[in-house]
Amino acid sequence: MLATLLTKLEDGILTITINRPDKLNALNKTVFQELDKVIDEVYEDNQIKSVIITGAGNKAFVAGADITEFTSLSKEDAIALSKNGQRIFSKIENCPKPVIAAINGFALGGGCELAMACHFRLCSDNAKFGQPEVNLGLIPGFGATQRLTQLIGKGKSMELQMTANIIDAQEALQLKLVNYVVAQEELLLKANALLSLIHSKAPLAISGIISCINAFESNQIDGYEKEANTFGGLFETEDMKEGISAFIEKRKVTFKGA
Ligand code: COA
Repeated sequence: MLATLLTKLEDGILTITINRPDKLNALNKTVFQELDKVIDEVYEDNQIKSVIITGAGNKAFVAGADITEFTSLSKEDAIALSKNGQRIFSKIENCPKPVIAAINGFALGGGCELAMACHFRLCSDNAKFGQPEVNLGLIPGFGATQRLTQLIGKGKSMELQMTANIIDAQEALQLKLVNYVVAQEELLLKANALLSLIHSKAPLAISGIISCINAFESNQIDGYEKEANTFGGLFETEDMKEGISAFIEKRKVTFKGA
């Protein structure tokens, strides 16, 4: 039984809802612990093919880390908090199954960082984004200095993080922080439709796409080398043989994830 998350598995899509609406779904210690555990299950459970992360209520996705937990932290505690959040968000980013963020309102601070750790994002038209940490005398601690810069470029990332300005859904779309803006009541429908489409593709190829695109952002891995090896490795899969045969035989393809 989870105290801060709701989970629902339907048609292979696990919807994880951060469920602290009275605190605008702020990320406290329990949310992090439970998210860590649920993401481990996503890696291990064959019934889960993809994930949607969203927030409870119609006001917030996640309004940041829980600021009330910051009051008694030492420097060492704060470094550990940051590293733990970074570790969990990297686990989301490197998940071999698609994880998308359905942003239903405020995505501030750690909320924007959680969304950016997902493979891609869509939002409702009332969504608001920002990294307001400088208002608290802080900087982001769960990856925004890196991921926001990769997603929207250095100048705009610098501006947003220095000014703490909050941007709306249309500006987030224009900056390519989100892929789609839809009405609130269509948000989960659109997220489900995108994942259903992805489910019709070969799962091992989808995992390959995730790991190769993530390699682009790593300065330790040669992305082209990884792409060539992943491309080659897929030639040994049953799904590749099925995909090629189905094309040649002009029939519908059926992938097995093998
Ligand atoms: N941590 C802890 N509690 C938070 C929170 C956070 N990051 N964000 C919101 N809350 C709580 C509020 O304290 C309030 O709790 P209360 O009812 O017990 O007083 C509740 O959620 C509702 O928020 P409220 O501020 O009353 O809503 P609002 O509509 O007036 O303002 C925001 C919405 C998002 C502008 C405002 O809540 C805010 O600025 N939050 C902090 C954002 C932030 O700095 N995040 C980065 C953290 S590093």
